[in-house]
Amino acid sequence: MTKVVAEEKMAIDDGKPGSGGLVTSLVRAIDHVSKRGVLSLEETLGNVFMINFAGLDTTANVLAFMIMRLAAEPDLQDWVHEEILAITQGRPVEDWEYDLFPRFKRCYAVFLETLRLYAPVTGVPKMTTSGQTVQVGERLVAIPPGTDVFPMLLGIQTDPRYWPDPFTWKPSRWILRPERSTEIEDEQLLVPQNGTFFPWSEGTQSCVGKKVSQIEGVAVLASLLVTHRIRVQTEPGETQKQVKKRVEDCCDDNNFDILLEINNPSKVGLECVEL
Ligand code: HEM
Repeated sequence: MTKVVAEEKMAIDDGKPGSGGLVTSLVRAIDHVSKRGVLSLEETLGNVFMINFAGLDTTANVLAFMIMRLAAEPDLQDWVHEEILAITQGRPVEDWEYDLFPRFKRCYAVFLETLRLYAPVTGVPKMTTSGQTVQVGERLVAIPPGTDVFPMLLGIQTDPRYWPDPFTWKPSRWILRPERSTEIEDEQLLVPQNGTFFPWSEGTQSCVGKKVSQIEGVAVLASLLVTHRIRVQTEPGETQKQVKKRVEDCCDDNNFDILLEINNPSKVGLECVEL
């Protein structure tokens, strides 16, 4: 981040336009001489972090996993499309209002299921302030104050005690349909047992962008699948089962250099086909 800010400052000092993005505007707002500009350097770095990593890469990486997994599941895309039609009643995307979004439960289920298996932040580094005791099986373990603890999200989110068939990517597990109804609008979202799903972390310092990312995920999916289908570019003679396996392998070949991301997405070519 410091390098990006330094490069922008150099460009501005040389009378060049800089990258022209948000970072350029932020760097212009720093008063490098008196250090009493509109923004301090620390505030600028905070904003760069927010915009580039916390606010952008997190959601973008989840979307990448989500689109890749969806591409291998045409039936699932039909399932989502069915909901989009039921909710929007054929209204064009330009006329969709914010109040539609909580009603796209299947779309949200796809996003949640992707976060369950491919959370961009795979564990949350924390420190105990006061001493605490934790139940581990039969034992009570005392954790002294000031101890680093690292709850591993992905471990909990794939624990078979709470998530049956945990490694299968199955968005429908999030949808509950009341017994006597066939209406899509009556479907409800699963509320996981407390402490078994927390990709945005929990508590007072949890993610401030949770709502933004939820709306982004649902909006991207709904506005894409209302008019398009995503397809995998198949190899000669490849069966649907093999395609699915190739996609799964591609998603499971990932790294956590900064946030969880696919190592070689180009191993699976995708196409976006208009309906
Ligand atoms: C799917 C998308 C996202 C996921 C999974 C996610 C996850 C997280 C997690 C696990 C934390 C750590 C919280 C903690 O320390 O307990 C966090 C912090 C944060 N997130 Fe997100 N995030 C997402 C999207 C966003 C977006 C879109 C924004 C901004 C618009 C954002 C802004 C932040 C900020 C500023 C923090 C630091 C909060 C603090 O320390 O007080 N995040 N996020």
